[in-house]
Amino acid sequence: MQKEATKKNERVVEVFDLFVKHIQSFFDEAKLNHEEYTNFVNWADRLGKTGELPLFADVFLETHVLRSMYTETPGTQPSLLGPYFIEGSPLIEAEADQPFVLTQRPDEAGEILYFKGNVSSVDGHPLSNVKVEMWHNDTDATYSAFDSVAPRYNLRGHFYTDENGDFVVKTIKPTPYPIPTNGPTGEFLEYAEMHPMRPAHLHLMFEAEGHETLITQVFPDDDEWLENDVADGVRLDLLTKFEDKGEYLEASLNFVMRKK
Ligand SMILES: [Fe+2]
Repeated sequence: MQKEATKKNERVVEVFDLFVKHIQSFFDEAKLNHEEYTNFVNWADRLGKTGELPLFADVFLETHVLRSMYTETPGTQPSLLGPYFIEGSPLIEAEADQPFVLTQRPDEAGEILYFKGNVSSVDGHPLSNVKVEMWHNDTDATYSAFDSVAPRYNLRGHFYTDENGDFVVKTIKPTPYPIPTNGPTGEFLEYAEMHPMRPAHLHLMFEAEGHETLITQVFPDDDEWLENDVADGVRLDLLTKFEDKGEYLEASLNFVMRKK
C-alpha cells in the first residue's frame, strides 16, 4: 500500500483531469458522431505508429505552450525546440577573434553566413561562458541525422560565450523547408488546405547558471514564409537582417535570458 502511495503524482492527476474535461467539451462542441470519433482515434493511432506524434505536437501545440508561459514577460521570446534537435553535438572551439565553424563538409553548399550574438541577463549584465547549442538545415532543406546524407552532426554544435557574452558563428544560410507531408500530419494539412512550409531559421539553445534555459529560433527578416509559418514559431523580436556583404552574409541578434 505504502509503495502505491509514494507513486501518486498530484500534478499528473490534476493535468489529466483537465485534459479529460477539455477533450470532453471539445467532443461536445465539435458534435463528433461515432464514425468521426473512430476516424479521429485511428488517425491518432497512425500518428503514433509512424513516429509523427512529436512532429504534430511540436508543429501545432508547442507554440501555444510557449506563448502562454512567456508572453508579456521580459526576455527573448522562446520558439519551438521542434523535432530535429539531437543530443550529443560536438563542442566547437575557436581561436580568439575567430568564429565557431558549424559546417563539417569542406564543400558545404550555400551562402556563407556570419552570425553574431550577444547574451545578457534580464538585469542587463552580459553573460559569459553561456553554453550555446546551435543547429539548422542545409541548402537541400534537410537536417543532418534525419533526412540529410551529411555527417550526423553537420550544421550542429555547441560553444561558449566570451567574457562579454559575445559569440560569432560561421555557417551557411538555412533554407525554408516543408514539414513532412506523406504521413498523418500531412493528411491533416491537406484537409485544412494548409501549406507545409516553415521560414528559414537557425535553432539556438542557451544554458546559463541561475537562468532558465532559452530555446529559440532566429529568422531572416525577408523570408517569404514569415507571415504564415505552418508551426507559428515566428516572433517579431526573433527577426534580423541577413546583410549581403558580397562574399558572405552577416546577421546578428542579442539574446536576453530570464532568471530562475
Ligand atoms: Fe527547424
